[in-house]
Amino acid sequence: MKIGTLQIDNAVILAPLAGITSLPFRLLAKEASCPLVCSEMISANGLVYNSTKTKKMLESLPLEKPLSVQIFGSDPSIMAEAAAIVEASGANILDINFGCSVKKVLKTGSGSALMKDTQKAEAVLKAVRKSITIPLTIKMRSGWDKSGTQALKIAKIAESCGVDAITLHPRTATQGFGGKADWSIIQEVKKSVVIPVIGNGDIFTPEDAVQMKKKTNCDAVMIGRAAIGNPWIFSHVIAVFRGDPPVSVSTEKLFECMTQYLNSSVEYFGEEIACKMMRSRLGWFIKGMPGSSHFRKSMTRISTQAQVMDLIETYRNDLLSISASNKYTSPLKINETKS
Ligand SMILES: Cc1cc2nc3c(=O)[nH]c(=O)nc-3n(C[C@H](O)[C@H](O)[C@H](O)COP(=O)(O)O)c2cc1C
Repeated sequence: MKIGTLQIDNAVILAPLAGITSLPFRLLAKEASCPLVCSEMISANGLVYNSTKTKKMLESLPLEKPLSVQIFGSDPSIMAEAAAIVEASGANILDINFGCSVKKVLKTGSGSALMKDTQKAEAVLKAVRKSITIPLTIKMRSGWDKSGTQALKIAKIAESCGVDAITLHPRTATQGFGGKADWSIIQEVKKSVVIPVIGNGDIFTPEDAVQMKKKTNCDAVMIGRAAIGNPWIFSHVIAVFRGDPPVSVSTEKLFECMTQYLNSSVEYFGEEIACKMMRSRLGWFIKGMPGSSHFRKSMTRISTQAQVMDLIETYRNDLLSISASNKYTSPLKINETKS
């Protein structure tokens, strides 16, 4: 698939996830062969008015490229200025959020609110298109009612404004994550435009990815929730797209990944913030494994990188010895079958 001038092979993409797809998480996805990663949504106002916290969200490493950076906002000139800042930061794609339905964002006319105001949407897209040379994409929902008519309208407008690809999460703005994503709208949008269409919503297994491509004819799939705690979903999907069996992940690899996430989070956020984040996040990776609830409980008390390393190491050894001997007692009490 080509997004503007950018060739993306094995088209499976990490979705933007606010609070999650910061640099440390994107590196995990990249390590699991994800060909394109997306930043979390970044406020255009924050970039233009030089907020230190917002600007930090643009930090990136060559290792994770190509990188798509998503911005949200509704003022055409601010969005254009923010887009230029993103381009100057070295991002490979600029994505505009047309899908967020959080009240705070809607109140400013941003996110899904842009799907209601087609004139504003067009003005934003034209202004941003003029201000950058990197590929421009949008990510939207199906609209404000179930018909998908708004998605079709916005897709046409986007294409005519020089947008290079469209991602569609076919739930309505009021639907949140309830019900099911209506993949038939992806198929409709795909039929209506020439630019690539990226399908998103409810891909939980590699087989779902295959089904979405088959049913909608989309050019690529994007995965969000299923990648949380399971970045290997990307290599699994790529394998299955090729007709190979999904690659298995060893216990060693799992713990390497948790350690990498800890270390790069400490580097990126600093030890205090990273450790607070790790208290809940490392639990994502071991969901359902023996002793995971005890590990999670122990994690709530940590405050230093060394303590986390200790817990990871102990849990790793416990699991390895479980698989080696199949009988076990440990400080982590790994004797559960479920957690
Ligand atoms: C925690 C969380 C944060 C999200 N943040 C963003 C965001 O910043 N920008 C965006 O366009 N979509 C965001 N989304 C929506 C996802 O990108 C994606 O469209 C949605 O989760 C459906 O895909 P999935 O079924 O693969 O999870 C977020 C979703 C979740 C669960």
